[in-house]
Amino acid sequence: MTRKDEAALEEREQYVQDLFRRVAPRYDFLNRLLSFRRDVAWRRFTARQAGLVPGGRVLDVATGTGDLAFDLAAVVGREGRVVGLDFTEEMLVRARRKADKLGLGDVCTFVQGNALDLPFGENEFDAATIAFGLRNVVDRERCLLEMKRVVRPGGRVLVLEFSRPVWPVFRQVYLLYFRYVLPWIGRLIQGDPDTYRYLPETVLAFPDQEALAAMMRELGFRNVRYHNLTGGICALHIGEV
Ligand SMILES: C[S@@+](CC[C@H](N)C(=O)[O-])C[C@H]1O[C@@H](n2cnc3c(N)ncnc32)[C@H](O)[C@@H]1O
Repeated sequence: MTRKDEAALEEREQYVQDLFRRVAPRYDFLNRLLSFRRDVAWRRFTARQAGLVPGGRVLDVATGTGDLAFDLAAVVGREGRVVGLDFTEEMLVRARRKADKLGLGDVCTFVQGNALDLPFGENEFDAATIAFGLRNVVDRERCLLEMKRVVRPGGRVLVLEFSRPVWPVFRQVYLLYFRYVLPWIGRLIQGDPDTYRYLPETVLAFPDQEALAAMMRELGFRNVRYHNLTGGICALHIGEV
């Protein structure tokens, strides 16, 4: 990679971090509103598919305000350990505050770090998850390889992300909502034209169900499969290490 490429990637990371820093105070509210609360069910489903048992150890990459980490905590219980990692401190501050409110401060730890260079050793976790994060990292393959590295053999890596609705008419309606209505509502509440333009742009540029599954297989994950959620608005991909 040339210096110019590296500089462009760094600039892109900085842009993403600035965006989430700005959106952090309203992030949870907008998630619930714009997804009609479906995001809550998508994360719960993800936590239940992680193959975890009470006492398990799990890493939630790009954890944001921690919602998936809390669902994972419900699965691993008081003896378990959940680590949430994100590079935007403003999101983590909210995650820690929520953990205290939920009485999960002992189970969930939130650390600042980069998904492309995870500050953990090999095989440290039974599973690793990433929800609505892979779309935002500047190098998807590297992020997936990092998650694979820190999960023990036989453990799972789970990717929850926006995908492609499967029924043609539903897809058209969804695209209209996504391209026009959602950025408009987002702009109204956030008062920032950039933020909710970024969402449809990155979702439409993200690999569809089959392409992401193929990428995971190429990276060496075993038994790769996916579940379409809400007609394929989202998909949960699971690969084994
Ligand atoms: C859309 S939010 C998802 C938050 C959370 N997982 C959820 O389900 O709501 C994306 C998060 O990815 C984080 N992020 C993006 N690139 C990252 C990177 N390279 N390393 C760590 N976090 C990153 C952002 O800071 C942001 O909090």
